[in-house]
Amino acid sequence: MKKWTILENINVEKLVFWWQWFARNLDWRVIFITWWVVPWSIVNLRVLKSKKDYLETQVFEVIKKSPIEKIHPNNPYWINGWCKRVNIPYNEQLKIKEWQVKEAFFHIEKIVWKKVEISTIIWSPLIDWYRNKVEFSFWKYISAREWIEEHFNVWFHKQWEFSKIEDIDWFILIPEEINKIFRDIKSFAKSTSLPVYDQKIHEWFFRHIVIRNSHFTDEIMIILSFNQNYNNWDYDIENIKNFFTKNLIKKYPKIKSIYFSRNDSLADIAIWELELIYGEKVIVEEILWLKFNISPRSFFQTNSYWAEKLYSLVRDIAWEDTKDNIVLDLYAWTWTIWMILSKNAKKVYSVELVESASKDWKENAEKNGIKNMEFVNAKVEDFLDDYLEKWLSADLLIIDPPRNGMHPDALPNILKFWAKKMIYVSCNPSTLARDLQFILKNNEYKIEKVIPVDMFPHTHHIETIVSLIKK
Ligand SMILES: C[S@@+](CC[C@H](N)C(=O)[O-])C[C@H]1O[C@@H](n2cnc3c(N)ncnc32)[C@H](O)[C@@H]1O
Repeated sequence: MKKWTILENINVEKLVFWWQWFARNLDWRVIFITWWVVPWSIVNLRVLKSKKDYLETQVFEVIKKSPIEKIHPNNPYWINGWCKRVNIPYNEQLKIKEWQVKEAFFHIEKIVWKKVEISTIIWSPLIDWYRNKVEFSFWKYISAREWIEEHFNVWFHKQWEFSKIEDIDWFILIPEEINKIFRDIKSFAKSTSLPVYDQKIHEWFFRHIVIRNSHFTDEIMIILSFNQNYNNWDYDIENIKNFFTKNLIKKYPKIKSIYFSRNDSLADIAIWELELIYGEKVIVEEILWLKFNISPRSFFQTNSYWAEKLYSLVRDIAWEDTKDNIVLDLYAWTWTIWMILSKNAKKVYSVELVESASKDWKENAEKNGIKNMEFVNAKVEDFLDDYLEKWLSADLLIIDPPRNGMHPDALPNILKFWAKKMIYVSCNPSTLARDLQFILKNNEYKIEKVIPVDMFPHTHHIETIVSLIKK
């Protein structure tokens, strides 16, 4: 079949991988559809690649909407890159995710044969408004060809068309109060008549608005990013400061910290040279009775509310085996898991590649009176080699790798500890299944629990916790 051939009236059957869907045409030929489409829609597809056994395609047009598609009452306009599934009712979103984990495991013989049970997905009671961080971009869009002149927009980039910004006043995933603050900053920025930065020529003024908040302690941090080299001033920067440090904090007393990001970076990034113009340097989040400082540069789970659930599930599975034992927390990121487990363990080694990801770890450990941890800034694969060479032991492994799963050099080494338990937290069922296949190969471990957790409603993200015990 030729490239660009259009296949008509195809029924989208199911999700197979990360964002790849499955269908068949009349000859029962397998069709993969890449990128987002609602299951059970009838679509026309465009062929991208034709292989012997299957076709790779993309959606050309939707002929009939899926019966499960329903416009979300709080988001009546359009989906954006961050929440593609917003127009699918939450119970259907959960079915898709649960099914996605089952599909990934379906090919692992040891799991199919042993009839390992996959728990019902743990759903999030907070479906909208759960994100604790948002970054909006100021942008202009001027196109003579399209007869468009938009000099002031601020929101997110349009998917597939980075040069355009959707001009919308709220975002369904952030709390209502943060949306109100965003609208106030937006109308203030507009009222100044200061020009919006132009990323092509690197000139003019407003660049980004970043808002972070802590769910459990209800504190808010704002960062306004602007081009500090803008020199066509007919406006006093003190007026901008006054708006934030007087008007805004009066209206929203939960705002605890405000920064200017004086930003002459050529890249489209928000956080650059920071100047604290109001309040505290950090806001504080509290998860499972531990306090975490969040600075403008800190990494943190974007749904703190349900992160607490995820971490408490890990804690409960790990707790007995942590007692006075040595724990390896591989792929540590924001140090959260090891802080939680260090309360019980003899010693926790926390390994993370990006040093800045855990840069506040020391401060946070001190804040919470934790002394039995060691932060290792290394690649997990190198760390395991060194650790094993020194004949050091580990009783429990917590593994929480990025989407592409564990490095092939690290996988064989995790088996050499003879650890009593391993807990693998995954954000990608496909690579999880691949790594489990390896771990289960020699019959040394068996699966105890598989728990899918929905941390990010309206998105394609799904977390899965798997605990494995030594036979
Ligand atoms: C899913 S996150 C971990 C989340 C973390 N456990 C938590 O609860 O907040 C994966 C982390 O692995 C880190 N990473 C990626 N490749 C790595 C490697 N080869 N060695 C060590 N860390 C790595 C990434 O920087 C990222 O912080």
